[in-house]
Amino acid sequence: MSVLNKKNVEDLNVAGKRVLVRCDFNVPIMDGEITSDKRIAASLPTIEYLIKNNAKVILCSHLGRPTAGEYDPKFSMAPVAKRLSELLGREVKLAKDVFGEDAKALAAGLADGGVILLENVRFEKGETKNDPEVSKKFAALAELYVNDAFGTAHRANSSTCGVADYLPSACGYLIRKEIEFMGGALENPKRPLVAILGGSKISDKIGVIENLIDKVDTLIVGGGMAYTFFKAQGYGIANSIFEDDKIELAKELIAKADAKGIKFLLPVDNVVGKAFAADTEYMTADVGSYPAGFEGLDIGEKTRAIFAEAIKGAATIIWNGPMGAAEFDNFAKGTEAVATAVADSGAISVIGGGDSIAAIKKLGFTEKMSHISTGGGASLEFLEGKVLPGIAAISEK
Ligand code: 3PG
Repeated sequence: MSVLNKKNVEDLNVAGKRVLVRCDFNVPIMDGEITSDKRIAASLPTIEYLIKNNAKVILCSHLGRPTAGEYDPKFSMAPVAKRLSELLGREVKLAKDVFGEDAKALAAGLADGGVILLENVRFEKGETKNDPEVSKKFAALAELYVNDAFGTAHRANSSTCGVADYLPSACGYLIRKEIEFMGGALENPKRPLVAILGGSKISDKIGVIENLIDKVDTLIVGGGMAYTFFKAQGYGIANSIFEDDKIELAKELIAKADAKGIKFLLPVDNVVGKAFAADTEYMTADVGSYPAGFEGLDIGEKTRAIFAEAIKGAATIIWNGPMGAAEFDNFAKGTEAVATAVADSGAISVIGGGDSIAAIKKLGFTEKMSHISTGGGASLEFLEGKVLPGIAAISEK
């Protein structure tokens, strides 16, 4: 999907206008405190642009998955309003409702350059159904609509999609940046293009593998899903996880990669443990020689070196998913080795997936990556080649 022919915020005349901005402020919260404000920080360029250009800014987002149709304080946007106020250095008032009396009054009272935040859009029944009546109520609050919620762009909801039927629309800087990096890596990459996929299940990544196999020069597969490929190749995998119903698919993917002449790298050795636990007994074993009763939990040292060598030669890298049970220190070394290789590669690097991002952060490599996506499901759907409804809905230039 080319975002280049979609309007962006700079194409709108925002001065003095009420602008509804859909962000993805779906941030992790523990005991009322935000534990990562990455998504809020990523929304600031668009919000600051609108403030600077004298728009009346009406922000909205979902937070979690509350029961539709009722206010639930557990899912209130209050912590987000507080953090936004701190980050912007000005008060961001929180409406008591989504598009009810309080939201309307606050929106009507906005000064040029002022900012308010609506309550959790998922408190409204019909939001996640993309109900046109709900979309119209969002539209009635504003004169212009900007979508900057990349993380929710794969959802056809009223606030991410339907509202654009009733207002002139544009995408914000975050959506543009996400699509430029990910779209650029997929459609017009500097070659060689190396994709590194991890995570436990082939079923979660089938669409991504199928789409990438047509585009990459090298495909690296690690993590739990590698064991289904080993099974498909006839190796014993002891107690490692695998998906029985995906063995045929794994065979087809190996054959397809072969027919296309792309390099398809699977591990040659693994760190195997007696149980899926942080302190379990473990050792390294070659693929096909795991001791009975052990399961694969990370890539081994030989594999780390082979993967690092392939990554070193890349000009563009797409990485999504861990190489093992990276939540346990003993089994995080493979994922960390990949993070180090990507950081050292000098390639354009586009990263998605919570565990890959956590490894990069832990090692202090965030600044060395070209782009770290703010979208989980949305990035995966984009990598699958799907059209994201939240972006499709934006007006063309
Ligand atoms: C996410 O965190 O992936 C997005 O905010 C979307 O949330 P959802 O899966 O609840 O729609």
